[in-house]
Amino acid sequence: MTKQRDGFASSLGAFTATVASAVGLGNIWKFPYLAGVNGGAAFVLTYLLAVALVGLPILVAEHAIGRKMRKDAVASYATVVPREGFWVLIGYAGVVAAFLIMAFYSDVAGWVFSYIVKSFMAAFRGTGPLSAQDFAALASGTWEPLIWQIGVVVFVSLIVAAGVSKGIEAATKLTMPILLALLLLCDIRALTLPGAFKGVTFLFAPDFSKLSGTVILSALGLAFFKLSLGMGTMTTYGSYMPESVRLVPNAGRVALADTLVSILAGLAIFPAVFAFGFEPASGPSLLFISIPAVFSKMPFGNFFTVLFFLLSALAATGAMISLIEVPVAWLSGKMKLPRPKAVIITALGIIVLGIPATLSLGPWKEVQLFKMGFFDLFDYIQQNLLLPLGGLAIAIVAGWRLRKSDFLNELAGQEKGKKWYLTLVYIFIKYISPALIVLVFLNGFGVFGK
Ligand code: PHE
Repeated sequence: MTKQRDGFASSLGAFTATVASAVGLGNIWKFPYLAGVNGGAAFVLTYLLAVALVGLPILVAEHAIGRKMRKDAVASYATVVPREGFWVLIGYAGVVAAFLIMAFYSDVAGWVFSYIVKSFMAAFRGTGPLSAQDFAALASGTWEPLIWQIGVVVFVSLIVAAGVSKGIEAATKLTMPILLALLLLCDIRALTLPGAFKGVTFLFAPDFSKLSGTVILSALGLAFFKLSLGMGTMTTYGSYMPESVRLVPNAGRVALADTLVSILAGLAIFPAVFAFGFEPASGPSLLFISIPAVFSKMPFGNFFTVLFFLLSALAATGAMISLIEVPVAWLSGKMKLPRPKAVIITALGIIVLGIPATLSLGPWKEVQLFKMGFFDLFDYIQQNLLLPLGGLAIAIVAGWRLRKSDFLNELAGQEKGKKWYLTLVYIFIKYISPALIVLVFLNGFGVFGK
């Protein structure tokens, strides 16, 4: 008999760890800048539909498969359909996606951590807010972004090395409530600015002429990225869930909480952007250029800037923990390495891949593949290819390859009586979500014409 597998100790812990995986730079950095670039409310609405119609059912499917198999993602998909071993590709693609995402994610997380220190120093010295030039100097530098990035990877690795319940669960139970409180504080500040209402309209009044196939595909990709889907993260977390977790209501609450954080982040950023006449479509730098500039113009602004980057760092940490856990669970499960060793190997891999991503925004700007630098290329591959295709494959496994009664039994778990929503979720997983992924995917690549 081998040692008992680590896992989440309680339903509450399973919930907070899952929310912490979902909530991340996706909410605070990616969602606002994609909404800004793609014209605001029409994109937001498409994104919400993608979460409800595709993201939520696939989240449920991943949790169910993980809990049924009680193994890491690679081992789960290798054995979930007996005699059809090729589904293991979902697991391997997930490990690859985890490294690709971490390569650029840890770069952005490094900027966030450095901005806590920088904005604190700026407030302390009274030197005025961090400017667009400050950000450009950081992001396009060599040693400074690399050192922050490596520091972040080491920090997150230490938490993951402490284990599933003592590391992941304990850390996220602490950070999630603090994050929410800080975010609400920033919202109150931003929404009480004169002129704030324009930012609210930008987020909630749709202009559908802005929608196109590529915009819809990126909204779908964002839904996957946001809920950490299509790459084994949620399968791995499902494998740590106690039997007492009611999978469907739990996933519903996770998706709701995550969406709420995105909206709250948008409501902290856009009213301030409009109130001070900044450009909402400024892209990936939106967070780093407008937040300090905008917040510094209001009373106690420097203080709020520090808070905002602090909460962003907390969000990024929970998400990175879950990204690192995918390869770590595989290396320590199937490959039987001790956990600390698995963490060290994973961290080294991330750093090796992270260096070209980070340098591609500076000294390696000229190195391009498919007209993209490494940072953009990694992001593009995961968001528009790996995650949607992984999600599609997972829906096919859950809806078409598993026996319906087995799958529904896992969903129901300890829930008594027949629950109507189980059948509804099943119909989505089997028909609606995969069909939508295929349509959006083909449309995004221009198959139905531009
Ligand atoms: N959901 C995280 C975020 O929004 C990112 C992530 C993607 C985490 C995939 C795990 C897996 O920031």
